[in-house]
Amino acid sequence: MQTQKPITWRFWDWLDGRYKLAALMEAMLHVEIPRTVRTYYLGGITLFFFMVQVVTGILLTIYYQPTPDTAYDSILFIMNEVNFGWLIRSVHAWGANLMILFCVLHLLRIFFQGVYKAPREITWGAGIFLLAVTLGFGFTGYLLPWDQRAFWATTVGTEIARAVPLIGEYLLVFLRSGPEITARTLSRFYGIHVLVMPASLVFLLAIHLTLVHQQGLADPTGSAPPEPVSPGQDKKKLLPFFPNYILDEVIAWYVMLAILIILASIFPAGLEEPANPLVTPEHTKPEWYFLFLYQWLKFVPRLVGVITPLIGGLVLLLLPLIDRNPHFPAHKRPVAVAIGAITVIAVIFLTIWGWLS
Ligand code: HEM
Repeated sequence: MQTQKPITWRFWDWLDGRYKLAALMEAMLHVEIPRTVRTYYLGGITLFFFMVQVVTGILLTIYYQPTPDTAYDSILFIMNEVNFGWLIRSVHAWGANLMILFCVLHLLRIFFQGVYKAPREITWGAGIFLLAVTLGFGFTGYLLPWDQRAFWATTVGTEIARAVPLIGEYLLVFLRSGPEITARTLSRFYGIHVLVMPASLVFLLAIHLTLVHQQGLADPTGSAPPEPVSPGQDKKKLLPFFPNYILDEVIAWYVMLAILIILASIFPAGLEEPANPLVTPEHTKPEWYFLFLYQWLKFVPRLVGVITPLIGGLVLLLLPLIDRNPHFPAHKRPVAVAIGAITVIAVIFLTIWGWLS
């Protein structure tokens, strides 16, 4: 007697008959990566935090009201009245910080392993825009609680835009939706935060991850373009992406989830007094990821202060085209590694200085 397949299998067969899902899964998962690859799961962890941000962000928008009269009270309501509202808000706040941290760490691993070189120029370029959007998420989200810190940090932050040559004044008015920070700024930041930024990030991620999939991960012991490997050697040097690599990745996500919940529970997101445009607080500091810039701006003329990060960003974007050394390992590219290390040390130094001062 022939036994019938379980209903879930039959449903899968039915769906597969229409969408050809098995072929799609096969193409997506059955790739192999060089055993020498060390990603430290940093890109995947950044992706994980983005997914956490989407879920917690959607939950927050259900209660958040983006007007100066209601924003602060709606945050209080989320924290005090909504079941687990305080936890969702804290996870969102910590998730934002950790996403930025891991995005930067991912960039540093790519840089120091040298795997940004041809043919990965577009993957790298999309990555730079991804980092910019991730920072943009942080900047626009900061204003939304509409407390003193939010209001004044955004006042100072947008003021810096004025120093950008030629377009500074337009940029300031564009960001604030007028010369001052008002209800219109809040609704503009909200729109950018919940629509423009997520759409841009998803678009860039699609480019980024499709390229990673199509090109495979780079062997960091190699060079650009990769040296051909003889078919006999191939198998021993490759690791199946599914299930071997993905299993480790999921464990890393699980650990990150635990860390996120512990941090959000022990150090919940705070709230200061409601925003008051007439009372300037004594010290207004930006979030940690903009502290190096804040400290830098204290010592150099404003024009230099805004131009240097713009040039830095452009150099980073064009790095795969500027750096013509074909080798990946650090000892074969001492100049790039030295410049990178000095930059990292300078940024950490300025950040700590900004923090302490
Ligand atoms: C939202 C931010 C980002 C996400 C979610 C993301 C995600 C990923 C993932 C999952 C991978 C696969 C390998 C790995 O996990 O390391 C990857 C690879 C890569 N990423 Fe990102 N990434 C982001 C930002 C960046 C940034 C800022 C850069 C650098 C400017 C970058 C450059 C690259 C490159 C060049 C690869 C290919 C590496 C290789 O072939 O070994 N990514 N990314």
